[in-house]
Amino acid sequence: MLITGGAGLIGAALRRTLESAGASVTVLDDLSGYDRATLALLGVDERDPRLAVGDICDEDLVRALVGDSDYVVHSAAFSTVAGCTRDLEAAFHSNIAGTETVLRAVAQTRNVRRFAFISSAQVYGHGTSGTDAVQVFSEDQPISPLNLYAAAKAWGEWQTRFLLEPAKVDHVVVRPFSVYGEGQIPKPGAYSWVIAQFAMYAMIGDPLPLNNGGRQVRDFLHVEDAAAAICLALVAETASGKTINLGTGRITSVRRVAELVRTHFLDAQFQDAPRPAQDPLGGCAEIARMTDALGWEPQVTVDTGIARYVQWLRAVPAAIPDWLRGESDRIASWNAGAAAHTTAEHR
Ligand SMILES: NC(=O)c1ccc[n+]([C@@H]2O[C@H](COP(=O)([O-])OP(=O)(O)OC[C@H]3O[C@@H](n4cnc5c(N)ncnc54)[C@H](O)[C@@H]3O)[C@@H](O)[C@H]2O)c1
Repeated sequence: MLITGGAGLIGAALRRTLESAGASVTVLDDLSGYDRATLALLGVDERDPRLAVGDICDEDLVRALVGDSDYVVHSAAFSTVAGCTRDLEAAFHSNIAGTETVLRAVAQTRNVRRFAFISSAQVYGHGTSGTDAVQVFSEDQPISPLNLYAAAKAWGEWQTRFLLEPAKVDHVVVRPFSVYGEGQIPKPGAYSWVIAQFAMYAMIGDPLPLNNGGRQVRDFLHVEDAAAAICLALVAETASGKTINLGTGRITSVRRVAELVRTHFLDAQFQDAPRPAQDPLGGCAEIARMTDALGWEPQVTVDTGIARYVQWLRAVPAAIPDWLRGESDRIASWNAGAAAHTTAEHR
């Protein structure tokens, strides 16, 4: 089977899960997501014979790899919201042109038993209850992408159906909420991945910035749970053709994340920061469809997941990027100066 973006956080976890179940996995990744040092820390070896280093826009390469695969998971993406807004060309290249190339190759072969498109909860935007209400996002509600990243995911969901239904290729779309876990290393200029950022700030003695007093809430899904759910979505008969949220169905406030991080770093300081304009309170996934279709529930609580992340970080302190040092001060001053113009990324 083939995982595009298999050198990234979710793709790599998925590969581990599938291989431990006996699957033979090929990864296609251009290694653009992380720098060399980070990739080494994540255990990505460019000489790995199961890793094809290449671009999802390379039609010949994609066709050859898809032609050899019984299942395809399309996880490759230019995966930060702010990054997509800053670099339109890169966003279009990976998230539109690349997705189209993968979908066409899948539509043209007869060997793919199921295709999984990794979308995102970002497609829900502010949801239907307004920005000041905690939301429960369900798959059948209207989607309303608020940024280029989310718009490309919404397009990818539709394009999956438009190309694969006529070609009669079985498919599933999953919408993960906020995925976190060991191996997650924040990217410069991306404002999400709060668990990793807070653990890193605490470890280097920087304060943990709490926008809006940390009242924003998210649905945090451990990366091993995300991988387990995607595996099931690939094979469960009841997942065929469906769009499925991947979350825990529980909300956790950013302040709670900070408090949990502080249980591991007792001298961690919190620093209040304003609420960025248009940053919704957030919410969680409605998970009834996920639990029904997959016959499964997430296993890792956020308390345990944060403890595991901290343990991993203590074992691999070099994972803390240099740019992150002093970043919390910059974020606080940036927030104070630019709150009115900022649309924050929320998952
Ligand atoms: N992490 C989250 O919280 C989250 C939540 C919802 C959805 N998602 C989606 O899940 C998928 C995986 O996310 P992740 O957190 O592992 O991101 P990631 O950035 O860690 O991994 C994405 C991988 O795609 C690769 N890639 C990007 N453009 C490519 C191209 N043109 N050709 C080949 N490879 C390319 C990158 O090198 C990277 O290894 C993405 O589609 C992302 O949008 C992630």
